[in-house]
Amino acid sequence: MNSPLPTPTAFSAPCPLQGRVRVPGDKSISHRSLMLSALAVGESVVEGLLEGEDVLATAAAMRAMGADISRNDDGKWRIHGVGVGGLLQPQTALEMGNSGTSTRLLMGLVATHPITTTFTGDASLSKRPMGRVTEPLGLMGAEFTASPGGRLPLMVRGLCPAVPIEYRLPVASAQVKSAILLAALNTPGITRVIEPVPTRDHSERMLTGFGVDLTVEEESNGTRIIAIRGEAELKPQAITVPGDPSSAAFPVVAALLVPGSVVTVENVGLNPTRSGLFTVLKAMGGDIRFVNERVVGGEPVADLVVCHSPLTGIEVPPDIAPSMIDEYPILFVAAALARGRTVMRGLEELRVKESDRIAVMAEGLRAIGATVEELEDGLIVDGTDGDPLGGGATIAARLDHRIAMSFAIAGLVSAAPVLIDDMSPVDTSFPGFAAMLATLKAEVQTTRLV
Ligand code: S3P
Repeated sequence: MNSPLPTPTAFSAPCPLQGRVRVPGDKSISHRSLMLSALAVGESVVEGLLEGEDVLATAAAMRAMGADISRNDDGKWRIHGVGVGGLLQPQTALEMGNSGTSTRLLMGLVATHPITTTFTGDASLSKRPMGRVTEPLGLMGAEFTASPGGRLPLMVRGLCPAVPIEYRLPVASAQVKSAILLAALNTPGITRVIEPVPTRDHSERMLTGFGVDLTVEEESNGTRIIAIRGEAELKPQAITVPGDPSSAAFPVVAALLVPGSVVTVENVGLNPTRSGLFTVLKAMGGDIRFVNERVVGGEPVADLVVCHSPLTGIEVPPDIAPSMIDEYPILFVAAALARGRTVMRGLEELRVKESDRIAVMAEGLRAIGATVEELEDGLIVDGTDGDPLGGGATIAARLDHRIAMSFAIAGLVSAAPVLIDDMSPVDTSFPGFAAMLATLKAEVQTTRLV
């Protein structure tokens, strides 16, 4: 995945950012569209699929388990599914690269099929906790042999028929929720997931779209109870994947921070379980307008018109965290340029993402001159009131695409270059990131390591 000699890269903004860009398809929706299409009987067509490494790992895994998946010249993906219960035993280990979503969701799928599957991943993924998924899937009857600490490489022995469960999520995690819902597809009876804190609901929306009997009850305290009837038959679908709000976050923050900028980011998914960053940036004074609002593939979508704005620090309410969990690294950068203090808490989950995103961002931001205080569950940032950061450091991206992209944007508003040691992890979620910034008139400089 990574070239043997990474190329340190810096980004700068010699003039205001301007123009219209599109970001690639939503990563969460892309994974789910491949998995569910591969379980339907007949041909599904997916348009706008994110062709990043994480999603390609899901495609390869579904192929290894019997689905017929191809990409047409027009960019549409055609998937002939095997039917629920029809997954085949893969001949070799499933190589998941950097992708936690592929791994955890697929563990759910294979847990209730009569097959044995081994998952492997890169150095970052091999450090991430899997116990959160093996615990509920074990209650359904699957057996696991994991590496020390419940990590990858990990072998799953599926059970069929499995046992339906009622499970209350101990962590706010859409991946854990989705793993159980996918396991439930090939399980007799009704499986219930109780979600005290709502997380992204793409699985629920898409399962319903494929014809699965799924209900969601919402209690007055916000707890969601998702009930799914198993032994389901999925009907093939035509799916259009909207642009990923987690990728749109980067040009949006860049436009807010670089003086004089006016940028339109087209076709951005605005599912309320995903759009917390835009709410927070607006509360900080960001001029972000949603135009051309519409529904694409069952998800709300708009074009975002973003103008440079002075930002003011706020206390970000911790309960918004699940709707912007992947956007904190870039919010930390925005906060570093705001007037006053931004307090962000309730973020313990950030410590178990592709890297420990609180520690890595705190260290990198300090290295380029920002004032930050690291908390166990978050970060306090005292901003510069619009003054550029110092820059002049090399950031280790640590196989984390969102760390690399966040510091690329920080470089646009730093006096001296911010070098990112290795931009290659960006291809997991945002192929074309550097080209997108170049379209907006940012400049890219690369230097070879000696
Ligand atoms: C995802 C859920 C989130 C998010 C990840 C994608 C998904 O992870 O961070 O990038 O597609 O379900 P958690 O479930 O660990 O919060």
